[in-house]
Amino acid sequence: MGTTRFHGFHGRSTEGFRDGLADSSGDPRTTRPYIVRIVHVLLLGSAAGGGFPQWNCWCPTCRAARDMPGRAHPRTQSSIAVSADGTHWFLCNASPDVREQLGRIPPRPVPGTRHVPIDGIILTDAELDHTLGVALLREGRALHLYATGAVVDTLERDSRILPVTRAFASVDVTTLQLGEPAALVNRDGSPNGLQVEAFAVAGDPPRFASNQMDGHTVGLVIVDAASGARCAFVPGCGALDEALLDRLAQCDLVLLDGTFWSDEELIQLGIGDRGARAMGHLPISGDDGSLERYARLPVRHKVYTHINNTNPVLLADSAERRVVEAAGLAVGDDGDAWQL
Ligand code: MLT
Ligand code: MN
Ligand code: ZN
Repeated sequence: MGTTRFHGFHGRSTEGFRDGLADSSGDPRTTRPYIVRIVHVLLLGSAAGGGFPQWNCWCPTCRAARDMPGRAHPRTQSSIAVSADGTHWFLCNASPDVREQLGRIPPRPVPGTRHVPIDGIILTDAELDHTLGVALLREGRALHLYATGAVVDTLERDSRILPVTRAFASVDVTTLQLGEPAALVNRDGSPNGLQVEAFAVAGDPPRFASNQMDGHTVGLVIVDAASGARCAFVPGCGALDEALLDRLAQCDLVLLDGTFWSDEELIQLGIGDRGARAMGHLPISGDDGSLERYARLPVRHKVYTHINNTNPVLLADSAERRVVEAAGLAVGDDGDAWQL
């Protein structure tokens, strides 16, 4: 399901790049040759768990995705890919749609018979929509995961995705400490230049998790130390407090939880008994929804992602889509891409 469209890159074209220098000293007067670094961000999947349409759902938006191509189209489950050189790519979350999604990463010449097109996988939580893809990449023989201790523990003991994957592939794990940037490493062991910082956000641990440790749900900021480009990826977020807003305000691109339009969305459709907030997802609309504060952030690209199949913003002609866009925010789509 989903599309293989590549929408081309949003972002800087001729307006001048950051003073990107491949020099870890960060000194712009370095004598080394000038190397333009552009951080590429690909939105591989913009839907929440279950994808869009969800296999067992005939809500109004899922019906539109099946039958009304002008109003809505299929989307895959939440994931992005990030690269600072267009060659080495890191997945943020590995969705059940990872096989199709990896096909969207720009191809490069492959020297041998086998080639793994990603250098690592960074996780925001241990939910199935973000981690089943780890096991699906088992043919890669060697994988490198970046996740908090809480997430790793759930993958080890509860979903057992790590032990299952390790039966097929070696899995290196870099444990992310909350609030501390970690350097990303290429498959050949060389430093990549990108850093990732995980920070705790309000949310519920997966319902199968036996721990409630800090860091079960995090947002990620990917930073290119050389150019200063920053991208935030926060697909699950139960609250937007000042500290989080300050952190997001530093970024060039923010991809934020757009799971639900309203708190009562699933209840009103008669397909759930819990509100959005109770599920760890701050709704977009309403007095205390995300839209108002998100719209005020001085960030160049503000995008909603991890959009549930019931959310009316998925309909191109909906009033809710107009509200989001009129506020200067975008409803992310599979294939969207940015250069920072
Ligand atoms: C969520 O985003 O709340 C979880 O992914 C829910 C789920 O997968 O069941
Ligand atoms: Mn989810
Ligand atoms: Zn639906």
